Amino acid sequence: MPDRVKLAIIGCGGMAGAHLGGYEKLLAAGYDKFQIVAVCDTNAKNAAAFADRIEEFAGTRPQIFGSVKDMLDDTSIDAADICTPHAFHHTTAIPCLRKGIHVMIEKPGGITIKAGKKILAAAEKSGAIVATAEQVRRCKGARVMEWAINRKKVIGTPSFFTMEVLGHQEFNWRSYAFAWRGLKLLGGGGMLYDAGVHFADMMLHVFGPVAEVHADLRTFFTPMLNGPAGLGKQRLDVEDTWLATLHFESGLVGHWSYSREAYGYKVRTGVYYGTKGSLRDRQEWMHPFQHGADLRLKDGSEVPYEKLQEQYMQQLSKAKTQRLFPYGLDDGVSNECWDFIEAIDKGRQPEVDGYAALKAKALCYALYESNLAGKPIKPADVESGKVNAYQRPIDEYWKI
Ligand SMILES: NC(=O)c1ccc[n+]([C@@H]2O[C@H](COP(=O)([O-])OP(=O)(O)OC[C@H]3O[C@@H](n4cnc5c(N)ncnc54)[C@H](O)[C@@H]3O)[C@@H](O)[C@H]2O)c1
Repeated sequence: MPDRVKLAIIGCGGMAGAHLGGYEKLLAAGYDKFQIVAVCDTNAKNAAAFADRIEEFAGTRPQIFGSVKDMLDDTSIDAADICTPHAFHHTTAIPCLRKGIHVMIEKPGGITIKAGKKILAAAEKSGAIVATAEQVRRCKGARVMEWAINRKKVIGTPSFFTMEVLGHQEFNWRSYAFAWRGLKLLGGGGMLYDAGVHFADMMLHVFGPVAEVHADLRTFFTPMLNGPAGLGKQRLDVEDTWLATLHFESGLVGHWSYSREAYGYKVRTGVYYGTKGSLRDRQEWMHPFQHGADLRLKDGSEVPYEKLQEQYMQQLSKAKTQRLFPYGLDDGVSNECWDFIEAIDKGRQPEVDGYAALKAKALCYALYESNLAGKPIKPADVESGKVNAYQRPIDEYWKI
């Protein structure tokens, strides 16, 4: 490995801006095993703004490219951090992987299961790393709660949970960032495949595999969108509401619902019940446990999240504390950026790899497939490719 990992940012929009914040914090903390040498975006203005920002905090200006092809023809990089819309995860990642360039891909890590598998196949062939930018489970709150549930068993055996995010949210559908999120061909689905994939990843991480799901999806609001990538004017065609039941292999059962077209009462609830008590999530946006959860036991006694966090931190060794919260940084984004560079530097796997992304995707897509089929669906059948009726038009359109 060269002294410093030469890094490119592909897709310079909203979330990539948060990644830059992570790299900036790492540099400020004294971690300098990387240098951002290139930025790549089909939108020249976005790429230039990123180059300005990087020059300001890192002191060197990255090269600017309008396409991955031009970037790969022109510069030598070791790694790429990919933050494009979902339809372009595989089109940007695979050419990098073929050249042995390690990638970290924002969740969901490919628009369909097939796209995700093609990314993994390209990585296996070249030996390059595929990391997943899944920050939620690396946040301090999420680490504390995984320990509290699985190691300390604060609620005993988990028995059921309910996660509901209901209310009226207005998105700016005229903006690029929402226009692609409203079209199945660009986003893969709506919020279930977008923010929902964080929830899916965390549920699998904390509670283990899901055997079967049964879901109902609805679309109540269908504004006209100006579809990017040549898709032109068309109506939003993804869900804005869902209600689902998740049956875990452990016997745990969960209810998960979301709507942004729920008028009047607003609901933000995430409660996980077990044989000894329950945990109330402080989440606001399907990012389970990111802000921790409060415990209430059968006898009415309460343990606030802060106390659980204190107990968790006390039992961590110094080495583990440094690994889980490098440089004292406990936000998931700085952590995933650090983990990606360290994985390359040390030749190890990242904490969240491309296979984890595939599992979370399969769980989300099982809900879409269940809605389409009108019956329960096993995420394992979605992951294997046996069930793919919902995704097939996306794979056909993009020739995946
Ligand atoms: N982890 C999180 O909490 C979180 C939050 C928001 C978004 N995301 C994820 O980040 C990714 C990007 O979302 P966003 O909100 O930043 O979107 P965005 O629309 O704000 O930005 C996407 C950028 O990609 C560029 N782009 C499009 N096609 C490209 C291509 N072929 N090559 C290079 N650049 C291209 C666009 O011009 C734009 O600048 C998605 O995978 C999304 O799910 C994650």
